Amino acid sequence: MEFKRKILCIGAGYVGGITMAVIADKCPEYKVTLVDIDHEKIDRWNSDRLPIFEPGLDEIVKRRRGKNLFFVKDMERAIKEADIIFVSVNTPTKEFGIGAGMAADLQFWEKTAREIKEYAESDKIIVEKSTLPVRTASAMERILSSGNKGIHFEIISNPEFLSEGSAVKDLEEPDRVLIGYKDTPSGKKARDEIIEIYAHWVPREKIIASNIWSSELSKLVANAFLAQRVSSINSITPLCEITGADISEVSYAVGTDSRIGSKFLNPSVGFGGSCFKKDILNLVYICRYYGLNEVADYWEGVVKINEYQRERFVRRMLDAMFHTLANKKICLFGFAFKANTDDTRESSAIYVAKRLIEERAHLSITDPKALENAKKDLKGIDVNVKYIEDPYEAAKGCDAIAVMTEWDIYRELDYERIYRDMRKPAFIFDGRNILDHKRLFEIGFNVYPIGKPELIHHEPY
Ligand SMILES: NC(=O)c1ccc[n+]([C@@H]2O[C@H](COP(=O)([O-])OP(=O)(O)OC[C@H]3O[C@@H](n4cnc5c(N)ncnc54)[C@H](O)[C@@H]3O)[C@@H](O)[C@H]2O)c1
Repeated sequence: MEFKRKILCIGAGYVGGITMAVIADKCPEYKVTLVDIDHEKIDRWNSDRLPIFEPGLDEIVKRRRGKNLFFVKDMERAIKEADIIFVSVNTPTKEFGIGAGMAADLQFWEKTAREIKEYAESDKIIVEKSTLPVRTASAMERILSSGNKGIHFEIISNPEFLSEGSAVKDLEEPDRVLIGYKDTPSGKKARDEIIEIYAHWVPREKIIASNIWSSELSKLVANAFLAQRVSSINSITPLCEITGADISEVSYAVGTDSRIGSKFLNPSVGFGGSCFKKDILNLVYICRYYGLNEVADYWEGVVKINEYQRERFVRRMLDAMFHTLANKKICLFGFAFKANTDDTRESSAIYVAKRLIEERAHLSITDPKALENAKKDLKGIDVNVKYIEDPYEAAKGCDAIAVMTEWDIYRELDYERIYRDMRKPAFIFDGRNILDHKRLFEIGFNVYPIGKPELIHHEPY
């Protein structure tokens, strides 16, 4: 079949894989190819066991794979063939040198730009899909146009706003699609080609075209605002615990104000995920670079509150369980950074697990999708850690349960059965406030929600 246009995506991870599957599904006349340096990942995309779990993804990949959706290893050929190249490689926080622990590490990004330059034989549109510091497009342009081969590369910024766990739906029904372009004739032409792709299923008024720098910066700012809301509500939880106020009631009262809104006001053990922390720190770094230290301090506070909230959770466990966790068995309900994903990057569960291991506790970790990743995260320090898929088995013989991920299944378990099989006194620390605390207390648990007074049975002396 003759395809209208050939799209390539470099980087077949969470964003590249899911976005391209949806584009292939919505635009059958476009050929969509993905390439990745991780060849094992490409093999898994071509198998029945996809490399990532995301609700609805398996069906789409099965429907389009081999028709107009392809996963390949030959980078050179893929680049030569493509008209439009999306770049969706990872941009983690830099771990070395200047900006370590803050700035975005652009080495994968630069490597990709150099590969495109080396192999391209015709004009191409390059789409920034990764989250990047503002003004990356100009660096990309400089690399691509150095030693000019007479090929024109037009750079478009098209940041991704999908949220893991609901990514397919987010892509199918986005709040908006942002397309940043350069205000030149070739920039406008490229903008229109990218708009044409999304216009297959996204209403035109939701496709926003903007200046390329605004587009790059908007992605960082959107994540910083979302994370800020989580840290804002979490910052109030210790005050509730001390004063007897209830964070659910406070959050409801605040969130019903239409100027504020209710989303992202759920208290928790802290936000996780691959993006929030790295994107805020990236923003902080850029602000410091431009000498905006007060602004940088302000946003850095969002990350600090998150770290404080995680540590506070562990301290509360320690205090509640008689100031020692050594040799106690603690069951973690969930390890993914949130429900409906197998992704554990920056999950609060990693931090809590490491701290509990330092306190010499024995862990039993359960999660419906993320145990493989949990094993990788705790590799080398997990002699006293068990990974058990069945939550009933995982909780057996434990002193405490700590809810780390808001998976629905944890709301529906038979907690009487779980209580019977645990050591007494039995504790539950609900790091997501998803359980029925009163009922658990009646069963016999000592219950520690977030941002609410604890419910404890005072043992007779
Ligand atoms: N995960 C999210 O929820 C999310 C949402 C919006 C935006 N983003 C942004 O999208 C980007 C990608 O994130 P992700 O979660 O998909 O990361 P990921 O780690 O899941 O995927 C990145 C992929 O790029 C591949 N890669 C790296 N260098 C390469 C190279 N030179 N050539 C070919 N492949 C290469 C890696 O092997 C990996 O498979 C990041 O910038 C991230 O900030 C992520």
